[in-house]
Amino acid sequence: MDGRIAVLPGDGIGPEVIEAAVEVLEAVARRWGHRFHLETGFLGGCAYDRFGTPLPEETLELCRRSDAVLFGASGGPKWDHLTGEDRPERALARLRKEFDLFVNLRPIRARRCLAPVLPVKERIIGEGLDFLILRELTGGVYYGQPRGIVLERGQRRGFDTMSYTEEEVRRIVREAFRLAQRRRKKVTSIDKMNMLESSRLWYDVAREVAAEFPDVELDHLLVDAAAMVIVQNPARFDVIVTTNIFGDILSDEAAVLVGSLGMLPSASYGSERFGLYEPVHGTAPDIAGKGVANPIAAILSVALMLRHTFGLEREAQAVEAAVDAVLEAGFRTPDIRQEGCQTVGTRAMTQAILEALSDQAN
Ligand code: IPM
Ligand code: MG
Repeated sequence: MDGRIAVLPGDGIGPEVIEAAVEVLEAVARRWGHRFHLETGFLGGCAYDRFGTPLPEETLELCRRSDAVLFGASGGPKWDHLTGEDRPERALARLRKEFDLFVNLRPIRARRCLAPVLPVKERIIGEGLDFLILRELTGGVYYGQPRGIVLERGQRRGFDTMSYTEEEVRRIVREAFRLAQRRRKKVTSIDKMNMLESSRLWYDVAREVAAEFPDVELDHLLVDAAAMVIVQNPARFDVIVTTNIFGDILSDEAAVLVGSLGMLPSASYGSERFGLYEPVHGTAPDIAGKGVANPIAAILSVALMLRHTFGLEREAQAVEAAVDAVLEAGFRTPDIRQEGCQTVGTRAMTQAILEALSDQAN
């Protein structure tokens, strides 16, 4: 397999975890004889400092000539004074839109061995949890027009527009059903249809799509109830599909089940194999540069890239199994520190994963 990958480390802990992820990618390439051509670019605050914009044209060009993008994180206190399109986070939102990456897949895998470090009771995790959050990524209130802050009768008013077309809903819900067909055949659609028109449409379209997939069961939850069920009875979920902003919020909540945001990978894609792969965690400015960031989310994002963009299922599973093996063996970064386990930094964790990878590759 030959592939071109744009590497955008970004800000904060982005560069540290992406360095780890690239090492894993290169190990996979060596072991299975693939050739990945990696090219680094700038996105976020680092791009703003260099080019005066968080999303330079050359970064877009780099992404356009790549099969996949591996991204770290963007933003931080240094750029908090920036507004509008200058904000590093907006660069990421524009990149998602530019490539029509309407699917954001966030797999939630809660491992039994981490149950003791979780704020939820061990019985909630049971023998382990495995469900998917599918977040719509290019519509909804993040992008709706009009938006702005205006002066009205002597005071400022800020407003956004939450809007979905039926096609925007249909394509993400269809993807949820397709994924569920290969799993436990259950989709839970999450909205706020008792209050919001855009959610009423979401609910109706989800039901229409369900008729195309008679082998998959559909149920609905209101987002407030869903926020509770995620920590109370997460075992009831197989594939969750929801709007952009509800997915943003619920996926951080679900990280509690996994141990830390530092463990949550994501894949963003559209109708092609092209994808943007990034850890769900942000820049974590408080620990940036200290060598203690958890590289697992970035490394598992590489697994998602191998699977989705390159169709390398065996390699993806090998990376995931290597991560499982080091966690079973008791390696922990500080965010998942555990009594009786070995606390290690980014480098040592990555090294352990590389070793586990080569062990099971043999
Ligand atoms: C995420 C992040 C982003 C979002 C920010 C950084 C723009 O929170 O990917 O979940 O809100 O989508
Ligand atoms: Mg978020």
